[in-house]
Amino acid sequence: MNILVTGGAGYIGSHTCVELLNACYDIVVVDNFDNSCMKAVDTIKRITGKDFPFYEVDLLDRENLEKVFIENKIDAVIHFAGLKAVGESTQIPLRYYHNNITGTLILMELMEKYDVNNIVFSSSATVYGMPKSVPITEDFPLSTTNPYGSTKLMLEQIMTDAAKANDKLSVTLLRYFNPIGAHKSGEMGEDPQGIPNNLLPYVAQVAVGKLEKVHVFGNDYPTPDGTGVRDYIHVVDLAIGHLKAIEVRANEPGVHIYNLGTGNGYSVLDIIKSFEKACGKEIPYVIDPRRPGDIAECWANPAKAKRELGWEATRGIEEMCEDSWRWQSTHPNGYNS
Ligand code: NAD
Ligand code: UFG
Repeated sequence: MNILVTGGAGYIGSHTCVELLNACYDIVVVDNFDNSCMKAVDTIKRITGKDFPFYEVDLLDRENLEKVFIENKIDAVIHFAGLKAVGESTQIPLRYYHNNITGTLILMELMEKYDVNNIVFSSSATVYGMPKSVPITEDFPLSTTNPYGSTKLMLEQIMTDAAKANDKLSVTLLRYFNPIGAHKSGEMGEDPQGIPNNLLPYVAQVAVGKLEKVHVFGNDYPTPDGTGVRDYIHVVDLAIGHLKAIEVRANEPGVHIYNLGTGNGYSVLDIIKSFEKACGKEIPYVIDPRRPGDIAECWANPAKAKRELGWEATRGIEEMCEDSWRWQSTHPNGYNS
């Protein structure tokens, strides 16, 4: 099976490419390097010892994206490409809507033209907005609190409508919780540009000495230690979830929706403690006010993915922190180290 991976040079995409190649799928990768670089593509090839076609193409560039479909017989698409920074999306919403929505529309129009009927889409737990309780199941009400989240919810709707109109189309919406960790080799990991927005890369950069201290956003939430609780999932477990989705659902028309999380919640202070253990250093932190828009707790009920896909996360919080540290300590400046 030949799989087109959009955004395959990015954090989750690159780890998924490695798992796909290891499982003997053929892949074709497209990325415009908006938030990644060629070194990530070279690393996928080095880790797996396998080659594949790579196209530096923007999904908004219909003509060049079409060449990918003309030059390769594609059987399925795993669609990671998109802009993902929540805060930035409130400052430049039109760019987020144009990139994420128009890019996906062009991709899906070409899929239709070239009779490609399987798509697995990177959605997010952000589509649950402010969940009324935890753990979250797939049938919870959906809402969003920022333009980034709205692009995910709109794309879920667009893909659902497309599946209703085309009885051959299979759409799998994977709602990720909080991916962290890195490849075991220490050669591949998350490489955020500038100051990280997310907790784990921030903690890792404090540990390596690039940032002074962690700012804990609020310790007055109704959680065991007062700090925010999330469902952190190892990026390799997440990557394997995509293989399962392709294996089980690719040839079943309709819309399939799964939470990809572990079902466990960890607080900000739990994460700092686990990272201290992994790196063998104390991680300084201060308590700051809450970050606007944050919720107290968010974790998945992942039972549907286990039942229907035969998938469950197997890597625990220690392994997530150890693998992040191996990558961060050997690559303090990411792929440019
Ligand atoms: P990432 O930024 O590392 O990867 C996204 C990749 O897409 C980048 O390599 C970027 O260059 C590329 N890209 C963006 N716009 C493009 C375009 N128009 N044409 C071609 N390439 C384009 O992000 P990630 O963490 O790997 O996330 C992958 C997907 O998963 C995204 O859709 C993201 O919204 C979603 N997601 C991520 C998280 C998370 O916490 N990392 C959580 C939930 C969902
Ligand atoms: N946090 C801090 N300090 C920081 C960064 C984060 O205390 O410097 C706290 C947050 O307040 C929150 C927790 O750490 O309690 C996790 O925050 P992240 O920013 O790492 O992750 P979020 O849960 O806020 O959001 C992430 C992605 C979203 C995605 C969501 C669910 O950024 O796009 O996970 O998948 F929708």
